[in-house]
Amino acid sequence: MNKTTDIDYGPLSELIGIWSGDKGIDIAPEADGEENNPYYETITFAAIGDVRNAETQLLAALHYRQIVQRKSNDKIFHDETGYWMWDAKESTIMHSLTIPRGVSLLAGGTYAESNDIDGKKVLLVSASMDDKNWNIVQSPFMQNSAKTKSFTHQITVGKGELSYKETMEIDIYGKQFTHTDSNDLLRQ
Ligand code: HEM
Repeated sequence: MNKTTDIDYGPLSELIGIWSGDKGIDIAPEADGEENNPYYETITFAAIGDVRNAETQLLAALHYRQIVQRKSNDKIFHDETGYWMWDAKESTIMHSLTIPRGVSLLAGGTYAESNDIDGKKVLLVSASMDDKNWNIVQSPFMQNSAKTKSFTHQITVGKGELSYKETMEIDIYGKQFTHTDSNDLLRQ
């Protein structure tokens, strides 16, 4: 693995840095309905270099850490980490994430410059239980009681601004729940 600053991180290069935002809206499942949690957060993306797989595929990777706090009591209620990877040859973005509920996933998507909005990069990835390439791994408890069936995540980033929306379809409390999170952040 090389760790140099002249690596081509492609559209991911816009992410590198420390971001914070206080416009977060979380819609999460509850036994008798849903909870709506306004939040603020800090996300740190660090360029960590490139990786070669099977002497062929070249990935440029960022590591990130996302710390999310409820506005109502300042407590951290979501802590997430993982990697964003860029495969320039295939114009493919990969996003791996782990949350301490016993859930991990690898989402993927194709990047096309033609989808950029107002000079900002649009990064769109998804994973699903039914997808043979981009899939979700979860503990036996979560498979039985709070199964994440699919995940989509769209980030729009550029000009010092980052906005995202993510959607998780979850089987919980005997029904399907659409768990969503979104926020607008500024580069620090
Ligand atoms: C900003 C990001 C996120 C926030 C703020 C957030 C917040 C929450 C909250 C408040 C709950 C309800 C917990 C409870 O009732 O005790 C929840 C449940 C859940 N979340 Fe998230 N979440 C986020 C992202 C994710 C992601 C990325 C995944 C999976 C890919 C995920 C999967 C789940 C699952 C499976 C549950 C059901 C567990 C339960 O309610 O008992 N969440 N989340």
